[in-house]
Amino acid sequence: MNMFSSVMVAILGVSPAIASVLSSRAVPNNTLPSGTNPIKVSSAQFLGNLTADNSCSHRDLGFSGPINGVWYHIFGDTIWCDTGVTDPNLDPGYGPDGVPGGFVPFVRDSISQSTSNPLKVHDLHLNDNTPVPHQNQFVPYDKSFGEAVDTGFGGTSLCETNATAGEAAFFYLVAPNGAPSKGAGVARISTAFGTPTVEARFGSQGYWWDAKTSPRYGDQAAYRDTQGDYIYAWGGAPLSATGEATRYVYQTRVLATQAFDLTKYQYWYGRATGWKTTPLTTFNEETAVMAGAGQGQVVYSNYYKTYLFVHTDLFHVLIRTAPKPEGPWSADVIAWTPTKFYSAGYIYAGVAHPYLDTSGKTLTVSYTNNPNVNDVVKITFA
Ligand SMILES: *[C@@H]1O[C@H](CO)[C@@H](O)[C@H](O)[C@H]1NC(C)=O
Ligand SMILES: *[C@@H]1O[C@H](CO)[C@@H](O)[C@H](O)[C@H]1NC(C)=O
Ligand SMILES: *[C@@H]1O[C@H](CO)[C@@H](O)[C@H](O)[C@H]1NC(C)=O
Repeated sequence: MNMFSSVMVAILGVSPAIASVLSSRAVPNNTLPSGTNPIKVSSAQFLGNLTADNSCSHRDLGFSGPINGVWYHIFGDTIWCDTGVTDPNLDPGYGPDGVPGGFVPFVRDSISQSTSNPLKVHDLHLNDNTPVPHQNQFVPYDKSFGEAVDTGFGGTSLCETNATAGEAAFFYLVAPNGAPSKGAGVARISTAFGTPTVEARFGSQGYWWDAKTSPRYGDQAAYRDTQGDYIYAWGGAPLSATGEATRYVYQTRVLATQAFDLTKYQYWYGRATGWKTTPLTTFNEETAVMAGAGQGQVVYSNYYKTYLFVHTDLFHVLIRTAPKPEGPWSADVIAWTPTKFYSAGYIYAGVAHPYLDTSGKTLTVSYTNNPNVNDVVKITFA
């Protein structure tokens, strides 16, 4: 066969190789940034470190969310300061590289209440250590789910489900140390007796979405829409995803009043198809909602009248915007470039504190400056 006829066979007969190229080209890339990001930062002021007014620890994350008007922060690994230490900067047991000198007690997650001071939170669920109490776990590990004290656990924002009842949904990822993630789940949180407390975790193993086959919904961000009735949860790819699909973010939503019923969740299939109740099993650039995103928080900006996703890469605090929580999301604007606390370190987990200025003209943001320092910066928009 000469060159010409082999080309003709390929075109007229549509060889399997060509068909696959054509079909993959037909899939839109919904993760590409879209629309104009209106954010203009006029100034950013570093405020200091976020610490507790009644306890002492080194910790990460701290995602915020309200229940009935009171804002709470959910921290990740919470490493207690030494006995009697009240200032984490003066903790002798904690080396400059963040590596504890010996065994340091810690809990895998904890909860604090916001205060009007952007640099102070009030820690909740304290133990009886003296003279300085330390935090107990917010979501205790559960032996009946095969969990132990060292089972990794990461949560994002509380999402209010019923303000009157003082109830919220909490999204989390169960990720045993040194092993693949198990799955993402939801807990019911109640303030019926004051302090937010876990009432129930759903799923036979304490999670709903098996990380082998489902995105880790809620591990990236979780948000109770202030402009509508839904809770949105974003998560990274399942272990079954391959290639570039592993780097994308997928999303689910549920009516806030139905957040504890798995059958009521809807899954995003991409801009052409929208939401479906059938769980998503195809992971690609069409069914994903965004790419290149760190853990963070969505807030509705009263100033820009748009949704903001506050997140980070390893070096910057970033904000992308969208007209609706399901996107399309714009390109990022760099809101702040932190000074890394530790030369080999990095930053992660963008946390929004919108309650400090409901006009939205400024947004106070915190993030984890590795290892376990929570920096706070106040961003003023132009
Ligand atoms: C889709 O867009 C992302 C950026 O959002 C890019 O990294 C990726 O390579 C694109 N994927 C394909 C298959 O074109
Ligand atoms: C923040 O905490 C780090 C680590 O403890 C410390 O080195 C730094 O001085 C603190 N910054 C401020 C402004 O307190
Ligand atoms: C919210 O909780 C209150 C108090 O428990 C209850 O009366 C009300 O029916 C709940 N609302 C919904 C929508 O379930």
